[in-house]
Amino acid sequence: MTAQKVVKKSAPRHGGGRFFLPKDLLGIKELSREQIVRILDLAGRYKGGRGSQPLKGKSVINLFFEPSTRTRTSFELAARRLGAAVISMSPQTSSLTKGESLKDMVENLEAMHPNLLVVRHAASGVPGLIASYTNAAVINAGDGSHEHPTQALVDLCTVRQFLGKIAGLKLVIVGDLAYSRVARSNIYGFSKLGAKVIAVGPATLIPPGLERLGCTVDTDLDRHLPTADVVMLLRIQRERQESLNFPSLAEYSRFYGLTRGRVERMKASALIMHPGPINRGVEIDPEIADRRGPPGPRTVILDQVANATAVRMAVLAQWGRGK
Ligand code: CP
Repeated sequence: MTAQKVVKKSAPRHGGGRFFLPKDLLGIKELSREQIVRILDLAGRYKGGRGSQPLKGKSVINLFFEPSTRTRTSFELAARRLGAAVISMSPQTSSLTKGESLKDMVENLEAMHPNLLVVRHAASGVPGLIASYTNAAVINAGDGSHEHPTQALVDLCTVRQFLGKIAGLKLVIVGDLAYSRVARSNIYGFSKLGAKVIAVGPATLIPPGLERLGCTVDTDLDRHLPTADVVMLLRIQRERQESLNFPSLAEYSRFYGLTRGRVERMKASALIMHPGPINRGVEIDPEIADRRGPPGPRTVILDQVANATAVRMAVLAQWGRGK
């Protein structure tokens, strides 16, 4: 591939005025409120069974360097429902294992003219690096502890479904704020749409400067339970920590686990969310994970998953247009 074929990652792709989209979807940080709302509205149309097949004749390559159940499956379903040809590559069985560099791998894929690459990687920034090697639109499906933009769009879609709005709500995000890409994307997304975001976790898992992303930071979960509209639990990202940043999982659970006692102190209308995978008995008691409500706070973890395909259809349709 010649150097001049590479599109600068900041180059706009399509749209007009305030709906101008970046070439790639690398993070919620780069999207405006209007762009987020437009994607959520389009997802609503796909959920309702409406929408054409704008990716007919186009190709999507899923490149998941890290394990995934929900994201990978829903991206694959989404691409197929939009009419695209889908390849889900397993980097573990690719020529990377024979010493090929990431750049060479992507340039070889580029030679086959894919329209979209969906990338998950353990290292923050890899989807952005890949985007600089390809003309295809790159969708970040989760990179290290940086961002997981489509998970935040799924979560926004789910809150709009159950509570009818985002602006004015109080979202409490609980847990591993240091390593969670879901936390970062949701802080950006919910605060852009006018929610008050409180990030709660052990002091050792609160990175310095987190409030600059658009949230208030606290170590006391119990203080916020009675006024929260949404409590979003996070998994402890043990794969990104050399050792636990707190004395034990039992200790973590005592202060931050969502138990029946804590749920009884929440508003009856509140939502309990988790991006998955959940660790039962650590960040959430099994009976709370399995309760659906109402009456009382409603656990919507599987509703989040149910919304994932429509949201990812909206993302692929927007970023795949015109390619
Ligand atoms: N929420 C989420 O990203 O789940 P997976 O790791 O299963 O894709």
